[in-house]
Amino acid sequence: MSTPLFLKLKNNSDSVNIMKIAIIGTGYVGLTTGTCFAEIGHEIICVDVNEEKIENLKKGIIPIYEPGLEEMVRKNKINFTTDAKKAIKFAEIVISAVGTPMGKNHDADLQFVKEVAETFGKHANNQKVFVNKSTVPVGTGKICKKIIETEFKKRNVDFGFEIVSNPEFLREGTAIKDTLEADRIVIGTETNNARKIMKKLYEKIEAPILFTDIKTAEIIKYAANSFLATKISFINEMAGFCEKAGGNIKDVAKGIGLDKRIGKKFLNAGIGYGGSCLPKDVKALIQKGQEFDCDFPLLKAVEEINENQKNLLFKKLQKHLGALEGKLIAIWGLSFKPKTDDMREAPSLTIIKKLQATGAYIHAYDPKATENAKKMIESFNIEFCKTPLDTASGANALVILTEWDEFAQTDLKRLHSVMKNPLILDGRNLLNKEIVEKAGFKHVGIGQPDQKPHETAKLLEHA
Ligand code: UGA
Repeated sequence: MSTPLFLKLKNNSDSVNIMKIAIIGTGYVGLTTGTCFAEIGHEIICVDVNEEKIENLKKGIIPIYEPGLEEMVRKNKINFTTDAKKAIKFAEIVISAVGTPMGKNHDADLQFVKEVAETFGKHANNQKVFVNKSTVPVGTGKICKKIIETEFKKRNVDFGFEIVSNPEFLREGTAIKDTLEADRIVIGTETNNARKIMKKLYEKIEAPILFTDIKTAEIIKYAANSFLATKISFINEMAGFCEKAGGNIKDVAKGIGLDKRIGKKFLNAGIGYGGSCLPKDVKALIQKGQEFDCDFPLLKAVEEINENQKNLLFKKLQKHLGALEGKLIAIWGLSFKPKTDDMREAPSLTIIKKLQATGAYIHAYDPKATENAKKMIESFNIEFCKTPLDTASGANALVILTEWDEFAQTDLKRLHSVMKNPLILDGRNLLNKEIVEKAGFKHVGIGQPDQKPHETAKLLEHA
């Protein structure tokens, strides 16, 4: 077992207790968790209902773009199967990592989690631990426990089992590091025995473990994502104020972030949060609140600010170009954030739809997400390009929607020479306004007021 150099694991390799683990669901969470547990020495079976996915995984082909994950899957001996029964019988710990998509009323749809509990109840053949890693609302542990008990009763068996809530905090794009160098591990249990087993599972990972009860662990997951969403909506609201009052949001974020109580991270103003988690989880928590007479006014405002933020760049485009019909808009970045090919709830989807409705033409480029984007975007008035410069060629404006590194390294001179109109709308404040304006562009960021004419003149003097 060798570990990539950048990862810091506990140096207790002599004392690793190898555990047999089945992971049900090989999405982002399941595949990363299974691979990382294999990396630290456990015996892993990963299960999925999708046969094609499993066949590819057996060949070392992973269905997502996640830096370092494919190499780690290939390196470790992970068993991939569609046979959940076999996996459950093999394992001492069964981890449910299936999806909890948004239900009809914005609540979390627990269909797949319930199916995993049922399968566990049908096939467990001795005492095992059932771990919930999927994002599930408070009370789900209890539901799973009941399902398993019912199945055991039907079979007239009583093996005893432990229920654990062990929420996941990894981010797409940095999933391996977030798992093996976690900030913290949260474990909700009902018994000391379950605590002991879970401690053993994580003994190679250097991270504080918070042991708590199951309901609290379930709430922690939603509270964490809702707090992150709140930070983003807060800074976006401040960015709007900066634009009107004349301040600069980048320095405001620095100025408040240096206060350790506030912290520097997650204070980048932009075009709103997207992805498969933050939007879904904020909505699901608000929805769950209704059951307990909790109105969540703060989270409702967080959501509203985010929805408005997704329309902001479109409005700015209209302000600068007037009617958009017939104009060519170049888009750099489609994924909901860099280092992923994930398009779920990407703000680019909202903006592109609005542009298409105006009759504007779109050239779009993303380093990794183009194929996924094609499946989600209607094909009229849009062309997907192969390079950033091709995308910008002849454009009336360039819009940056995802802060991929390669965009920051653009040759501004060449970019200027290919664009029809040197206007950049920077939805992620990726580029340095001063440098870009020195190169002859008009740069419109988020929460960065325009240079006053005399300031621009001064910059040009030094060019
Ligand atoms: C999020 C959480 O950060 C993870 O801790 C959690 O495990 C995961 O959801 C989950 O529940 O599975 P992820 O969806 O991968 O992770 O992405 P984030 O890095 O949180 O970014 C979410 C969105 O917020 C992106 O659209 C990003 O561009 C935006 N964002 C982030 C900002 O607009 N500003 C920031 O300062 C940070």
